[in-house]
Amino acid sequence: MQKNQVEEGNVKIVTKIGNDTAFYNPLGEFSRSVFVKIFSAYALLKGGNLTYAEPFSGSGIKGIRLSVEGRGFSTFIFNDIDKGSLRITEENWKNNVVNGEGIFYNLEANDFFQILVNKGRVDGLDVDPFGSSSPYIFNAIRAVRGGGLISFTFTDTQVLGGIHSEALEKRYHIRAKKVQFLKELQARIAITNVILEASTINIAAFPVFAHVDKHYIRTYYIIKPKASLSSKLIKSIKYITTSDCGYSSLEESFYCPYCGKPTDNIGPLYIGNIFNKDLIKKAHELSEDCKRCSELFEIALEENDNIPFYYDTRYLASMLRTTTPSKNILLERLRTSGYKSSRTVFCPTGLKTCAPFGILESLFYVK
Ligand SMILES: C[S@@+](CC[C@H](N)C(=O)[O-])C[C@H]1O[C@@H](n2cnc3c(N)ncnc32)[C@H](O)[C@@H]1O
Ligand SMILES: [Zn+2]
Repeated sequence: MQKNQVEEGNVKIVTKIGNDTAFYNPLGEFSRSVFVKIFSAYALLKGGNLTYAEPFSGSGIKGIRLSVEGRGFSTFIFNDIDKGSLRITEENWKNNVVNGEGIFYNLEANDFFQILVNKGRVDGLDVDPFGSSSPYIFNAIRAVRGGGLISFTFTDTQVLGGIHSEALEKRYHIRAKKVQFLKELQARIAITNVILEASTINIAAFPVFAHVDKHYIRTYYIIKPKASLSSKLIKSIKYITTSDCGYSSLEESFYCPYCGKPTDNIGPLYIGNIFNKDLIKKAHELSEDCKRCSELFEIALEENDNIPFYYDTRYLASMLRTTTPSKNILLERLRTSGYKSSRTVFCPTGLKTCAPFGILESLFYVK
């Protein structure tokens, strides 16, 4: 195989032809597999024959994988501002056993969104620019039909982690800091940004799935153009109170009820549900050929996502100066004590529980 040839999922693509090169990041393979499952699940639940668009195609790998491996989409509209990338996408489309019609544009993304609006909008749209999706949210959402599915990637993980808090405030209008539930915080900041942008035109962007890796934050939404639904989502934007001792709560307090130190308020942040269990159940059914996808969806199906933060057992153990108990044993102890508790897709050592913090802490010492 030549250097610029890539095999991923069930497709083979090239990333360079002559002087043309297209962006391709092998680290995104898993997120693209998850994307194919979620979009296929959505399309099957909708009855199929849907239209998909990709404003930032790169090599076209996502749309091509959806067409080859996925289900329910029959029209695929690709766009990239870079002419060379587009030529490569067209070539890759021709050289794979695709299902459906391919349409290709070479426009700036915002002009492409306007074309989609003029042509009657699309059912599925994936927004995958370099860095943050934030500058594109408003126009992208308008390009999706009511009831449609849209996904946004954020790769500005440094800013979203609250590490550079001034940059975070400027870009996302959120005050945050590095907390034990960092990965979920990143996802919820991105989700809040999308919900707020959509709400300015009375569109409700309901989060349906999210997952976070070292290099990216991926978030998915179903769009409902209804003012009352958008108001309902806005009502779930609140603050989370945190303390360095590990205490996190939706109840406001200036001082931590456990260690007595001043607390930090993180937000404003969307604290509502982020997992659409029907969609994820379908995506799970389609994941027999992807063990990692299947495991991710299993956890998402279980996750207590009405609690907007997890406890990281490793962090708590270090705060309590004790060894980290097995997460499964802790979960079992919490459940036997009657507290609804679950794993979380955001952190392998994390757990969610409705138990009071003091109860959770005490379980770290049970031998
Ligand atoms: C992160 S890459 C896309 C990766 C691709 N979706 C994948 O899964 O491999 C971003 C792409 O957006 C293109 N791009 C950057 N700015 C753009 C803009 N304003 N409008 C349209 N395309 C743009 C770049 O040429 C690049 O190919
Ligand atoms: Zn405390």
